[in-house]
Amino acid sequence: MTNINNPIGVFDSGVGGLSVWQEIDRLLPYESIVYYADNANCPYGEKTQMEVIEYSCKITQLLIDKGCKIIVIACNTATSQAIDYLRKTFDIPFVGIVPAVKQAAINSKTGVIAILATAGTLKSKKFNDTRKEFSGNTEVILVEAGELVDIVENGQQGTEQSGKILSKYIDPLMKRHIDHLVLGCTHFPFLIEDIKTVTGDYVILDDPAPAIAKRTKFILENENLTASSENKKQIEFFSSGDIEPLRNLVENIAGIKSWMNFSERY
Ligand code: DGL
Repeated sequence: MTNINNPIGVFDSGVGGLSVWQEIDRLLPYESIVYYADNANCPYGEKTQMEVIEYSCKITQLLIDKGCKIIVIACNTATSQAIDYLRKTFDIPFVGIVPAVKQAAINSKTGVIAILATAGTLKSKKFNDTRKEFSGNTEVILVEAGELVDIVENGQQGTEQSGKILSKYIDPLMKRHIDHLVLGCTHFPFLIEDIKTVTGDYVILDDPAPAIAKRTKFILENENLTASSENKKQIEFFSSGDIEPLRNLVENIAGIKSWMNFSERY
């Protein structure tokens, strides 16, 4: 039987999944977490579906070997391309993330929304099924913006280069009167300040991370797997390459605590 105090496994191609991690940590403060950043293989958005499945299986096995009780795929690209295969292959609950089309379409007043995501997500069947199911009469503009992943991996938020790239993507959307911009990649919440300098406050940025944290809580409660308040919380960060981008971002968003451990080239 799984121990309730076993960790939650969270993975992404890199630092982006930290935007999901911080929501889970906020909502479930007693939970231990193992976070895996596959930055040696980042970006996933340019890889074939077979490659993304292969990386995701390897990481899932590693998280299971570390005793994880549930796995959160904190990556739209890996969810879109691999979650069905993972669910068939591994006997553990998975939570995935897909761009928040429904939330944006329901709340749009202009009837025009845009989705900013990687090529891998936008071409996937899973994403396109979701888009067709939930967009209704709303016009949905798809924007492939994989190069923003590197900006975040390299810690280049707030730079002139980041501003230029964002203007290139977002200025044309403003001319088409979007009122919602869906952050369809977990790296993009780390660009919110930069994005807002282009959109102003008029456009609402939709990030599904809080909903993913709620979904994780719901499944843990349903399966009687919620950690006790006496749990000796541990957060372990692993990376398949250089650990520094991860350490820097964690330091920035949460500060580094005594219960956090970092290991690289794992
Ligand atoms: N953070 C990822 C996502 O949500 C992956 C980005 C990438 O590696 O291309 O899609």
